[in-house]
Amino acid sequence: MAIDSEAKKVLLRKIPHGLFICGVRDGDIINGFTASWVTQGSFDPPLVVMAVRSEGSSHDIIKNTRKFSLNVLRADQKELAAVFFKPQSALGGRFEASPFTYGELGLPILDDAIGGIECEVIGSVIHGDHSVFVAEVKSAKLINDTEALNLASTGWSYGG
Ligand SMILES: Cc1cc2nc3c(=O)[nH]c(=O)nc-3n(C[C@H](O)[C@H](O)[C@H](O)COP(=O)(O)O)c2cc1C
Repeated sequence: MAIDSEAKKVLLRKIPHGLFICGVRDGDIINGFTASWVTQGSFDPPLVVMAVRSEGSSHDIIKNTRKFSLNVLRADQKELAAVFFKPQSALGGRFEASPFTYGELGLPILDDAIGGIECEVIGSVIHGDHSVFVAEVKSAKLINDTEALNLASTGWSYGG
């Protein structure tokens, strides 16, 4: 049976999403990108689930290092989210827009955000144009507990 592609698009775009800066690192190589396909997957152990575009620069870094950070943006940080999905001159260059320090797992945690978590990948589904990574939260740093940026408020869409 053929799928109704318009209905599929409209319905999938109803799934609510936050907006995060995912940080990755392989030795001296660092990178960050805007991610919205993120959700919690378990209380105990604390798991998160994130889908990552297979052709993006960060995909293979996560696949190989099996770790990533997720920085939670404030509601007023839409411009920063835009920096992290636009093309960059060199890998990691987007971080010039926002200073960071390395967390306990050595991953980039933004200095100016609600906070960041570091995660270790425990499983993945490598299928389709995004890979789904399931990861356990290993560290959490809260900087400023305030309202978070969400996709609906930006007028952007990623999904469907
Ligand atoms: C609103 C929005 C949400 C996005 N969410 C994701 C996401 O959840 N996963 C993903 O892999 N890419 C997502 N992207 C795309 C990446 O941010 C973009 O492809 C980025 O350039 C990837 O960087 P990289 O190739 O340096 O890893 C999103 C883009 C936008 C505009």
